[in-house]
Amino acid sequence: MKLTQGVHLCGSGAFGLTSDGDCHCYVLDGGSELALIDCGLSENPEAILSRLEEDGLDTGRLKYLLLTHSHPDHANGCAWLQKNLGIQVLASVFEAQVLERGLLETLGLNADNENYRQFAAMRRCKVDRIIEDNEMIRFGTLEVRALLTPGHTAGSTSYETEINGRRQLFTGDEVFYQGFVSILTAPLSDFEHYHMGLKRLEGREVDGLFPAHLMWTLKNGQKHIDKALWDFEVSKRPNLKLFS
Ligand SMILES: [Fe+2]
Repeated sequence: MKLTQGVHLCGSGAFGLTSDGDCHCYVLDGGSELALIDCGLSENPEAILSRLEEDGLDTGRLKYLLLTHSHPDHANGCAWLQKNLGIQVLASVFEAQVLERGLLETLGLNADNENYRQFAAMRRCKVDRIIEDNEMIRFGTLEVRALLTPGHTAGSTSYETEINGRRQLFTGDEVFYQGFVSILTAPLSDFEHYHMGLKRLEGREVDGLFPAHLMWTLKNGQKHIDKALWDFEVSKRPNLKLFS
């Protein structure tokens, strides 16, 4: 589903595009090359490819998978896409470690704890390229800037690109439409780290805001980020949506 120039929605359980548990998965069209942002649960990864083909996009041009973080509804399909398409998986160093070793193993958590049980089912994947804050990722005609935005997870990453003068931002589960945020009860997912992550997105004059759950918007995306920051800094009461 084409959302605006260069931006397609190719996976989403909530909007009925792919398997129920899939987060919103976006693809950026750089012409000769494409990049996927998050890839869903992997129950039916071919469905994502079918949505791309429906939009007239050649899945053979998929070069990168840019991960916002390693939670199963965003990243379980990594290994399948690597194996079947040769796609290169990019993630921050913390999320790469989690993907390779598992979250519970990385953090030393006990799978018997009910809060963490869902993460025991995460599939492993060897990340091809570790991305740093402010790093540029180039494919086709597009340039994407990685912004490390810890909070939802310790290595959560947002991705920003400009297409025809419009600034499009993909935030994963870091900040949603209307400024909702999602804090998990895990180490390094707390108010302090979340505030640090959101500050990375301050003043960026974002037009399109494309989170991995709930709604997206094509204009005035910055005001939803600013609302989240206001909740942290002024009201001291972040608006929580407990998406994993
Ligand atoms: Fe998540």
